[in-house]
Amino acid sequence: MANSETTEFPPDGSIISGTATGRGQWGTRLGFIMAAAGSAVGLGNIWKFPYITGEYGGGAFVLVYLGAVVIVGLPLMIAEFMIGRRAQQNPVGAFQRRHRQGSPWQLVGWLGVASGFIILSFYSVVAGWALAYVFKSIVGFSGTAEQIQSQFTDLVLNPRDSILWHTAFMSLCIAIVYGGIQRGIERWSKILMPALLVILLGLMLYGLLGTTGGSRAIAFLFEPDFSKLSAEGVLSALGHAFFTLSLGMGAMITYGSYMKREANLVRDAITISILDTVIALMAGIAIFSLVFHYGMEPGQSVGLIFKTLPVLFAETGPIISIPFFVLLSFAALTSAISLLEVVVSYFVDKRGWSRRTATLVLGSAIYLFGFLSANAAWTVPFRGKQQGFFDIFDFVSTNYMLPVGGFLTCLFVAWVMKEKDRAREFGSSGRLFVGFKIVLRFIAPVAVLLVLLHGLELLPWVDYGN
Ligand code: PHE
Repeated sequence: MANSETTEFPPDGSIISGTATGRGQWGTRLGFIMAAAGSAVGLGNIWKFPYITGEYGGGAFVLVYLGAVVIVGLPLMIAEFMIGRRAQQNPVGAFQRRHRQGSPWQLVGWLGVASGFIILSFYSVVAGWALAYVFKSIVGFSGTAEQIQSQFTDLVLNPRDSILWHTAFMSLCIAIVYGGIQRGIERWSKILMPALLVILLGLMLYGLLGTTGGSRAIAFLFEPDFSKLSAEGVLSALGHAFFTLSLGMGAMITYGSYMKREANLVRDAITISILDTVIALMAGIAIFSLVFHYGMEPGQSVGLIFKTLPVLFAETGPIISIPFFVLLSFAALTSAISLLEVVVSYFVDKRGWSRRTATLVLGSAIYLFGFLSANAAWTVPFRGKQQGFFDIFDFVSTNYMLPVGGFLTCLFVAWVMKEKDRAREFGSSGRLFVGFKIVLRFIAPVAVLLVLLHGLELLPWVDYGN
């Protein structure tokens, strides 16, 4: 507990800097932006966004998603940065300090730490598949479409292989977080993110210029056809805005806590949200150009990346497939380290563990917990049917934990934080600030509540097919 005591707010309201307490701080603004954008840009952008866009019919869904990013995502990201930077603490400490020990708000932080633990345990399994596909790409995809697609089924159903790749991925993740804020997370984000951008730009240009599917891909993503948009599509767009911006579980609180006091967090949140969105759209263009070029259907659900694309990659060859899966792996890695950092920061700040011990112990615990998700054969009854842990964890964290965390985070900044602190962290008290407060007090919580009720299948006007 010694650590948390040394970082208590002094009575005069000044803040002891992160470096003074040994927590670490971002070295540069660019480093922070790369790390936070690295957290946001992940499997959500490159794997999930294209497939759910395909499922929900394209343009109209994208428009709602963009609206959700602006109306809910961006304000919530600013709110998380505000909480983190003000407290200079992990999520549990950040929610606790104003209300002292035992405050019920602390539970929000706890929920975040638990979410980080659970999400990383299955995220690492998917990321492991991405690594596996880098190697499959080097060998090359050949055979009939069925043979290529069955490679994925084999991987998923063979826990030994899944666990092997999960081990490789978690080791990378632990190694980076072990290095600390500047020498681990910031350094690697500054390498991986620009590399990711270059690869993605290349793949998008290939889609637009090297295939005949480019214009159809653009039309699919940007020409809204509202007749295709279901109520469920609207709410899924909102839920995805959450997941893709790493909101609702304290990742941005934790990254915000390593920010310097003089940083302009509104401007940085805008930059990060734009980067995340642009990258998702670029990935969409790259993937759908290929899909349309080969006359496939965009609505391929979860298998779009690991089943449909490899069949197309058999035609394009490794020159496209290797960069693609490297891109996917890089994106997953910079997100995974932010998930681990949330858990580690709690043990460092609140339990007084050293970063190295915390990283090794918690990283290993998450790794072992991930075995549950890597084993597709292990199923338990959940919501009326036998399901694997992977699906259950994904479902519970995305539909319950993140929305609850995000909702409460909005309320905390909107109604609980002192006006003085709010204005200081926001960096202005002008019209923008007033607008921010209105969104955070009313609009965002209502929107998030809708997502939450949707996750619980409680919206009366949506047909959940039960
Ligand atoms: N934003 C990441 C993605 O799009 C996932 C993530 C969620 C990362 C929550 C950290 C926290 O893949």
